[in-house]
Amino acid sequence: MTERILLLGGGGREHALAMAITSSDIDHELHAAAGNRNPGIARLADSYAILDETDTTAVVDHASEVEATLAVIGPEAPLAAGVSDVLADAGIYTFAPSRADARIETDKIWQREFMVAAGIDGCPTFETFNDAASAADYVDAVEGDVAVKPQGLTGGKGVKVTGDQLTNAEAATYIRDSGWDDWVIEERLIGEEFTVQAFVANGSVRPTPAVQDHKRAFEGDEGPNTGGMGSYSDVTAVLPFMTESDYTDAVDIIEQTVDALDDYRGVLYGQFMLTADGPKVIEFNARFGDPEAMNTLSILDADFIELLTAARDGGQLPPIGFDGRATVCKYAVPEGYPTDPESGARITVDESTIEAVNDRYADEPLAEAKLFYASVDERPDGIYTSTSRSFAIVGLAGTIEMAEAVAEAALEAAGDGVRIRHDIGTAALIEQRIEHMNQLRG
Ligand code: AMP
Ligand code: GLY
Repeated sequence: MTERILLLGGGGREHALAMAITSSDIDHELHAAAGNRNPGIARLADSYAILDETDTTAVVDHASEVEATLAVIGPEAPLAAGVSDVLADAGIYTFAPSRADARIETDKIWQREFMVAAGIDGCPTFETFNDAASAADYVDAVEGDVAVKPQGLTGGKGVKVTGDQLTNAEAATYIRDSGWDDWVIEERLIGEEFTVQAFVANGSVRPTPAVQDHKRAFEGDEGPNTGGMGSYSDVTAVLPFMTESDYTDAVDIIEQTVDALDDYRGVLYGQFMLTADGPKVIEFNARFGDPEAMNTLSILDADFIELLTAARDGGQLPPIGFDGRATVCKYAVPEGYPTDPESGARITVDESTIEAVNDRYADEPLAEAKLFYASVDERPDGIYTSTSRSFAIVGLAGTIEMAEAVAEAALEAAGDGVRIRHDIGTAALIEQRIEHMNQLRG
């Protein structure tokens, strides 16, 4: 039987998913659907439909048209719109949570209250508010730094942390002026952030290596928060500033969470702050991270479609492995991103540069550069930016340092009109992370 797989979403994460799907040994067709035409996915797919990813009717009609036997949803917006429920109702197994389970990402008040009710480790202290005035008054009066979070999805740009980006009084004004009513106000966690993602189905949990994303727009962690400028992972599951038991504590939190949810399926993403007291939960996402999916799926040593069919068939997920390489991912983003991105600009990616880098490193058995297209639109006369991230390079090698060098060499492929955080994955920045944790832990 041929598995006909519908892949929803057109970003870098979905290009990584398309690569994982099409490298399977199981007979398959890939049917892509997204709001933009991602040239990397288009090259791998048997068909490509342009549609509104949150339009449940359009998605389910298209899935029926291509006779999908499986569906994979990349982004959060379709989960919030209930696309996975509608596909499941149409009899198409969807490797993504129901809208109800996706509340772990889409509703920050629900998420914190769920953690408390289920007794899950690593929850910061918090208060919830259903009107902006009370939330703002609380922030004005409270002692100490806080994180202020609107209840719903804001593309990673609604959260503000006081003591760092702004004062409590400024945060109170931000809340009053925001137009949002519902808030979580929680203690500010101090430490180093990391991500652990896991494949989940039928109660089985297959964790993947820790990854560190870089949310701030500019080098040295300056500037506004973004969807993520780039990320790295090490040759083991643990990052250089963590201990093995920090990682297992994080995996334990993910397992507790899956146990407390009702038959969660898909990817569960834990965003952690490694504090002096161990990992605390910043948030959960109901999907792969972007950029983190590009790190993780590039080193996945398992057949992705076999994972999907095992999930659909109701059994345990097969064991998964990783190929033991370090990864460094750097995004190229439009000028002005994230506050005033230059959309609709034509950009170039010289793919022959990436091939030349791979030739140059041919003697280095583990080294490789991979290109992932993201929120760009391919038109007959070229590739155009949107308001979000344009493309990413992942460098892979036997050390983070070498992976970073490979990524930088391949980034020579970028033409004008994009910006890159060149400090991601550098020895200097990683040393700072290690120093920071050493200081906090005394
Ligand atoms: P979120 O949208 O929840 O991922 O938050 C965006 C960013 O805000 C996170 O990546 C953290 O850098 C920061 N953040 C969120 N919650 C906290 C917290 N309780 N303490 C410190 N920083 C936080
Ligand atoms: N990289 C953060 C996210 O995907 O939400």
